[in-house]
Amino acid sequence: MSLWTPEAYTKAWNFAADAHRGQRVPGTERPYINHLGNVTMEVMRAIAATPIIKQPDLAVQCALLHDTIEDTDVTYETVADLFGLSVATGVLALSKDLALPKEEQMADSLRRIQQQPGEVWMVKLADRISNLQPPPGRWKREKIQRYGAEATTILEALREANDWLAQRLAQKIVAYKMYG
Ligand code: NI
Repeated sequence: MSLWTPEAYTKAWNFAADAHRGQRVPGTERPYINHLGNVTMEVMRAIAATPIIKQPDLAVQCALLHDTIEDTDVTYETVADLFGLSVATGVLALSKDLALPKEEQMADSLRRIQQQPGEVWMVKLADRISNLQPPPGRWKREKIQRYGAEATTILEALREANDWLAQRLAQKIVAYKMYG
């Protein structure tokens, strides 16, 4: 089993904490880094459960940085300078293209993720696992059902990347139906 290196983790964790400073997890008072810690924990748990992960640092750094380009003023170029092209390209694939109509953004991102190594697919699976927590009280039933259905689309597109995460997301999708 190959594992991540602590230095790679710490460098990306500190960078993400600075980049997201002041942001909250939507619908909560928790700092945004809480979401990044949860997603990365899911990725690390999957790495530990998988016999061969070729680039564990790519998976862990993309997990920690996955929302920097989309949600902060950090650019692709900055991520590439500090963390290398593979991480920057992975994070870019995990970012919605906000220039597209909203209903096309997920399918477009999934297509770009599928052109990346499996380590990047793992981050998207882990992101949705982490996001299938009890929905905010203001969400209407239709929105909750749409979010659950979108999770199924993600699972079907990316499940081949990692058995552990695919099974965990499948279980989360079943459990989430009780909210809709
Ligand atoms: Ni996320």
